[in-house]
Amino acid sequence: MATYLIRHSPVLSGEVELNAAKNAVLPLLAAGLLTEDPLIIKAVPRITDVETLLQILRDCGAEVQRSGTDISICALHPQSPTHEDNMRKLRASILILGPILARSGSACVGLPGGCAIGQRPIDLHVKGFQAMGAQVYPLGGKRQLSGRLSGARIYLDLPSVGATENLMMAASISDGTTTLENAAKEPEIVDLANCLNQMGASITGAGTGTVTIMGVERLHGAIYSPISDRVEAGTLLCAAAVTEGSVLVRGACAEHLRSLLFKLSEAGVGVRETHVGVRVNGMAASPFEVRTLAYPGFPTDMQAPMTVVALKCHGTSMIHETVFENRFMHVGELSRLGAHIRVENNVAMIDGGYPLRGAAVRSTDLRAGAALMIAGLMAEGETVLNDPAGHIERGYQNLPEKLRSLGADIEKLENYPL
Ligand code: EPZ
Repeated sequence: MATYLIRHSPVLSGEVELNAAKNAVLPLLAAGLLTEDPLIIKAVPRITDVETLLQILRDCGAEVQRSGTDISICALHPQSPTHEDNMRKLRASILILGPILARSGSACVGLPGGCAIGQRPIDLHVKGFQAMGAQVYPLGGKRQLSGRLSGARIYLDLPSVGATENLMMAASISDGTTTLENAAKEPEIVDLANCLNQMGASITGAGTGTVTIMGVERLHGAIYSPISDRVEAGTLLCAAAVTEGSVLVRGACAEHLRSLLFKLSEAGVGVRETHVGVRVNGMAASPFEVRTLAYPGFPTDMQAPMTVVALKCHGTSMIHETVFENRFMHVGELSRLGAHIRVENNVAMIDGGYPLRGAAVRSTDLRAGAALMIAGLMAEGETVLNDPAGHIERGYQNLPEKLRSLGADIEKLENYPL
């Protein structure tokens, strides 16, 4: 629960450092359930999604310890969680299913929640475990899976990030060899595979559409440093692109940001890759067209911030959302600031170049909240961004502080009536 006051901030400049990627850290923490040894994840961001997942891991019997920003997970006898409420708080909670099932031969989990950006079923996860030999029963709104898992050839109807991660984790300690076809190729998948291999797994092909996992008897502990957050990087780059100035995002991996960097260049933003990160100069000016796709396509998580960039460009930009069915909720809020946007089916047509004016807006999901924060920097006067569900703090560590270090005028209002 948070409220932010954002004042017109036409110039952002300076340098800002990234945190580790939320969407890499969450599966890595869940991977701690795969071994009885401690798995230590370095430099974990302080965000509420991590806190919630840690509560779930404790509920599953894991011992969780912190040393500074490092987190150690030790799971001697992992078991199914008892508190369904936490499962509902984030999508990544489903990533405990594969490890618990593979370790103990049965798992019973509530359906995951997370940002309400579409239906987000778990059928691909479940079908994959069934192909590996699990029996599946619905149990009072939960899913009960049981059986000894063994290698299988699995074709994913969609390159689902979560299903690829869940199946990869379970297969790493199952009998025989599992092949995932049409697997997700996101950098976070490669990061998880690297960590699992460091723990003794035998995974090849991560980052391509075919991932092969040769099951081993047991995994051991490891100390692992996750990749930097490409969505946080993209959010900061978009914030810079709607203001004048020059911003260096330290730790940003240009390779992970390729599609976004192409689109920012197309919009007229100067983009420079350096050995320490990515620098952007100048403002977005030319309209563009974007289609969200699985990696290496344009990330759906950058769609809302990129909509705000389009508001700066003179002319009509088009953004096609093809990954989630309901990820344009920020559009209504941006209209309150005076944005000219029409949505037809899964396409947003954004007429840019009109001034925005501060107003009261509401964060509807994580990336929508970040996008509204950026829009507030562009808008004349004051914008009050209400985030009753605390979406922004679920996924970004210190986003307002980081923007403020670049010259943004943002404050978090304590005790603001919601
Ligand atoms: C991950 O979600 C990310 N979350 C999301 O980040 C991201 O938007 C998404 O991947 C796509 O890149 C984490 O990594 C924790 P999917 P995930 O399974 O794994 C459909 C953010 O803002 N699908 O790749 O849930 C699904 O409905 C968030 O940080 C099925 O139909 O995404 C969607 O349309 C939000 N059945 C598409 O596939 C399934 O069993 C892609 O979902 C699974 C997915």
